[in-house]
Amino acid sequence: MEKKWQERENELRAALATAETEAALEGIRLRYFGRKGELPRLLASLSALPPEHRREKGREINSFKEWAEGAIAERRAALAPVPPRGPSLDVSLPGRPVSEGSIHPISRMSRRIVEVFRRLGFALADGPEVETEFYNFDALNTPPDHPARNEQDTFFLKDSPLIPATPSRNGGRLLLRSQTSPVQIRVMEKQRPPIRIVAPGRCYRRDEIDATHSIAFFQVEGLVVDEDLSVRDLKGTLELVFRELLGRETRFRFRPHYFPFTEPSFEIDGFRPGRSKTGKEWLELCGCGMVHPKVLSGTGIDPDRYSGFAFGFGIERLLMIVEEIPDLRLFTENDLRFLRNQSSPV
Ligand code: DAH
Repeated sequence: MEKKWQERENELRAALATAETEAALEGIRLRYFGRKGELPRLLASLSALPPEHRREKGREINSFKEWAEGAIAERRAALAPVPPRGPSLDVSLPGRPVSEGSIHPISRMSRRIVEVFRRLGFALADGPEVETEFYNFDALNTPPDHPARNEQDTFFLKDSPLIPATPSRNGGRLLLRSQTSPVQIRVMEKQRPPIRIVAPGRCYRRDEIDATHSIAFFQVEGLVVDEDLSVRDLKGTLELVFRELLGRETRFRFRPHYFPFTEPSFEIDGFRPGRSKTGKEWLELCGCGMVHPKVLSGTGIDPDRYSGFAFGFGIERLLMIVEEIPDLRLFTENDLRFLRNQSSPV
């Protein structure tokens, strides 16, 4: 009896070892488990046994059955093709693009502007966006009744425990700076002439938002203080810079203007013959002037010995001119179609 089961096992083992295909394996399986196979035949033979032997024989049949099932399954697994590891890879599919970030157009223009000034020996400066009334207005010789100080035009901040009270000289109300000009004062307080700085940064004004107005925008401030500076230096410097940014053929017009912190003051208009449709479009580019003696002396710089020129202009405005962007709001809406078109990669 013992021997017989062993033989059966050996038979099946040998058969499985030679089964190289799924079909051959199935043939073997049917030989044992099929309706007319070995196992049904063995089970049927049980009924012919005397009852006292049935149980023993039944157990033997069952254990062979279990072993045979396992052996067949094992062979099936060995025959099955090795499943690919991880998700299957179709190398013929187009690749998934890795989306690369890019520099925002405003940052890009700001860097370009700074780069041009750097070549002329200007250093980079900056100042806080939360300013005091002193830096934003008083130190810049802005009269107490100047309309810009109005709460309708400037964002004033409530006193907050998060913003410590400032010393009386630097005091006054806290506000979001309405221009980058306060950086001039901060630089002159710390540094003696010669001074040559540019300071790009965000400014805030209470405005109705439309295609050309925003409550937050960027300016570039510039300040040069030295001996023997005159309007010629101002004119030469700014014409050179704007020609670099707008094109060599750009022509300029210096219009007299008023700013409290410069005297005389000008507004520079630019005209680009190659880009002009009507031949008449003069574009307002920049405010500028010779630093007011009161502004110099307020920071401890002797106006009899030193003079200075200063300027300030809007970065978005310049971008809108250079890249013919019709609406200021595009810069802040984060529409990737716009940003991708405008931005070169990092
Ligand atoms: N701060 C001025 C503004 O926001 C721009 C300006 C004009 C800046 C003349 C200057 C300057 O430094 O000299 O309109």
